[in-house]
Amino acid sequence: MKIDFTKASFKDFENIKDFSVQQRADVHYEFLQYMKKSGHLNYRLLGNSGCGPLIDIQNVDGTGSREYVSLVSNDYLGFTQHPKVKATSIAAIEQYGTGAGASPLIGGYYSYHKELEDMLCRFFDREPGSAIIYNTGYTANSSSLMSLLQKEDIAIVDMAVHASVYEGIQLTNTKRFLHNNLEDLERILKMVQPQYRTKLIIIDGIYSQDGDMAKLPEIYALARQYGALIMVDDAHGIGVIGEAGKGVLQHFDMKDKVDFITGTFSKTFANIGGFVISNPNISSFLQYQSRQNAFSATSSPAVAGVTTAIRLLEEEPEWQAKLWENINHLKSGLVDLGFDVGTTQSAIVPVKIGDPHMTSEVGKILLDQGIYTNPILYPAVSKKDARIRMSVMATHTKEQLDKVLEGFEFSDKKLHIAKIKYKN
Ligand SMILES: Cc1ncc(COP(=O)(O)O)c(C=O)c1O
Repeated sequence: MKIDFTKASFKDFENIKDFSVQQRADVHYEFLQYMKKSGHLNYRLLGNSGCGPLIDIQNVDGTGSREYVSLVSNDYLGFTQHPKVKATSIAAIEQYGTGAGASPLIGGYYSYHKELEDMLCRFFDREPGSAIIYNTGYTANSSSLMSLLQKEDIAIVDMAVHASVYEGIQLTNTKRFLHNNLEDLERILKMVQPQYRTKLIIIDGIYSQDGDMAKLPEIYALARQYGALIMVDDAHGIGVIGEAGKGVLQHFDMKDKVDFITGTFSKTFANIGGFVISNPNISSFLQYQSRQNAFSATSSPAVAGVTTAIRLLEEEPEWQAKLWENINHLKSGLVDLGFDVGTTQSAIVPVKIGDPHMTSEVGKILLDQGIYTNPILYPAVSKKDARIRMSVMATHTKEQLDKVLEGFEFSDKKLHIAKIKYKN
């Protein structure tokens, strides 16, 4: 079987009929070389500096490195570099060492984990014992869902939810509804009414590719009407949306309404890990039944930095304010240049281009201009919906964002990609 590299996406290499794993790896490698040659392989670029608005990246050919304005980090408030956050992680390592040494069920559960879980309960106004932490946001979704939903149940998911949700619902029944589409959700809820034991609607607070917000109040009303539970993954809402960055649930004043809140420490909380908030009995069920908590060692003491990041949301609100100044500056600049930024309501700013090849070209031009963004192609988005995706940080300067705008203006001059011409 011959794959046409000019039209291929990574999806085409997932499984190839009659190819052994080695043959698949070999042809995949050839595809990577093809992309590298065309200058479109801006994945797994090697950063020499830490997370931040500027990043030093190794040249692809291995010769030296260069500094870029970075729009690829979800460290929205810049807390990975905040001295108080760093100091807390360092102090915890000094006190507890560098690792946890076991899964939480059999010896790897420490006071710094408990303190973090207690803080998360307070952050979301839930009773003590309602939170459980995981090693990543990915496994908070995938591992918890795998034990929550079985073959007698059904997951009803917005089609744009994160990949980790799809992984978690493989053992149960599933129905997908059109993104944020209430009619389609209601159609499915009516259809599945009597059959299933537990019906769980799963949505994101902020969607990771378009940056738009879930229609939570309406979805909640439908869930109650049809006897379904709700899980909201607010990975991209926390720190960005709502008073003191308490996320989409705070924005809609619905913290006590939804049945499960999940999220990550890898974005605003400037660390690694994730969490599920529900109620004490569900949490203790997950402590024993969710396989990660039994069979995988838990977070290292460095995770203690999250407790300081949570405190800073209230103590230093200026970061959230600065983030919004930056989001508005970049968004309005792009719109003035005629670009389509879609329906974003968050720090995720997509520039919709459509054609995958053109999108990769824009990514390359921006890199040449010293601007690091993510071209997002199929299968992460549909084939006709390729875009450049950017994440804005509170610590970007206006000059850095202006450089990004100039980079897009330059790309448009070369490729004519701006869609909406407001200017005459
Ligand atoms: C909506 C959403 N949920 C979960 C995750 C996974 O988080 P983590 O990086 O902690 O695994 C992501 C990460 O990109 C995400 O965008």
